[in-house]
Amino acid sequence: MIRVLFVCLGNICRSPMAEAVFRELVKNKGLAHLIEIDSAGTGKWHIGEAPHRGTQRLLREKGIDYSTIKAREFQEKDFSDFQYLVAMDQKNVQDMKRKSPKSTSLSITRLLDECPHIQEKDVPDPWYTGDFEETYRLVKAGTEALLDRIIKENHLEEEVLANETD
Ligand code: 4NP
Repeated sequence: MIRVLFVCLGNICRSPMAEAVFRELVKNKGLAHLIEIDSAGTGKWHIGEAPHRGTQRLLREKGIDYSTIKAREFQEKDFSDFQYLVAMDQKNVQDMKRKSPKSTSLSITRLLDECPHIQEKDVPDPWYTGDFEETYRLVKAGTEALLDRIIKENHLEEEVLANETD
């Protein structure tokens, strides 16, 4: 199983959006049986909560399911449970590193590292900006590029092609 974890600060705005959008992309490529997806926050404030109203409204508008998503805190164990640790911004990366076991070789990326053509490298936080659409635009670009990389790195091209012709 390939395991992917999206991480932000509160786990109610950006990373649950990335989780839901990425799960939809993975499902549409017929890879749901091979890729497990979760999200977490480096902060504790919203543990157990459903996504923010703005994220819920946006996902509803796009017809993307978010019914199973509940906020949880990022933990040290996530370094061994997930191969792909994908942060929304540089502050998340720093906070995750602080929780990392000393022996772990770190492989945290930022979602927008996937998109060299996009100048912004941090996904803007709608908790502060109020702009869920702009965050979605970047989350969509980042998750599409991330899935392309995961397909290549795990040699899933034939699996995807077989599903397309089904
Ligand atoms: P997120 O946004 O990291 O995208 O989930 C935030 C949500 C809540 C808070 C900060 C950022 N907060 O301070 O409660």
